[in-house]
Amino acid sequence: MLRFFAPWIAPLVGALFVCSLLWAVVMSPHAPAIHLASEEFHLQPKAIHYSFEGPLGRYDNQQLQRGFQVYKEVCSACHSMRLVAFRDLEQIGFNKPEVKALAKGWATETPSLNPDTGEAATRKSLPSDYLPGPYPNEIAARAGNNNALPPDMSLLAKAREGGPAYIASLVTGYADVPADLKKKFPDFNVPPGLHYNPYFANLNIAMPPPLTSDGQVTYADGTKATRMQMATDVSAFLMWAAEPKLENRKRTGIAVVGYLVIATLLAFAAYRNIWHGKKH
Ligand code: HEC
Repeated sequence: MLRFFAPWIAPLVGALFVCSLLWAVVMSPHAPAIHLASEEFHLQPKAIHYSFEGPLGRYDNQQLQRGFQVYKEVCSACHSMRLVAFRDLEQIGFNKPEVKALAKGWATETPSLNPDTGEAATRKSLPSDYLPGPYPNEIAARAGNNNALPPDMSLLAKAREGGPAYIASLVTGYADVPADLKKKFPDFNVPPGLHYNPYFANLNIAMPPPLTSDGQVTYADGTKATRMQMATDVSAFLMWAAEPKLENRKRTGIAVVGYLVIATLLAFAAYRNIWHGKKH
């Protein structure tokens, strides 16, 4: 009995399998396609040119200082930069007295303890202190921002796809909800407390537009502070904060490539010399 059926089982199973595959292929176009406004209306970062791009790219200290000014006067009201110390700012061209004055005059003070009572207190910052954030903790930060948390900015330029260009596009990218979007997705709305921004992955962001007008900061070097200029400068500064050794990395890369080229030429010359006039 079994002998009679056995030769049929394998082809039968195979045929069933093929049929189910065909069924899946034929039926799949009928599955509902998930289509989201955030897929269609999300924009890639703008094409912004930075001095530190390319193999020979370098930071422009003037720009980094302008970017620091934008961070200090605008973004630091909500975003901390816990991994940057005041004295690190010497790397972008501030001298020691300037750093000392910046630390002393910073809007929030450094947390400390009262030496007499042991109670929590604050004191003026020193160059060796890290930049104190605007909020004592996450609860206070959320309470001040509609329950959203402004992320720490120390590594933000490396933590987001698109890096500095994404940040500059985001802060200049606020817009009205496009008529097209409303037409195609009537259910889409901007909840209270959020703002439409096509550069943000889900299109609605809790950050109010931070750069609202040209000339919001006054640059000491005379550069015109358009919104795009401020956005480019602050994002360049954030790139420096996230990767201060970028120039060293590039320089090492070039030295290594140069070494390899010379070593290859020498090896080739030696090869020619040794085999010169010899028959193989
Ligand atoms: C009034 C407070 C406030 C100010 C000022 C502010 N931000 Fe924000 N920012 C926020 C909040 C809140 C979020 C979190 C948004 C969210 O998750 O929806 C945020 C998020 C961000 C993000 C992260 C977006 C992401 O991909 O997650 C970037 C980048 C950013 N801010 C850049 C800036 C820059 C640059 C400045 C200064 C020019 C600035 N912000 C000033 C409140 C602020």
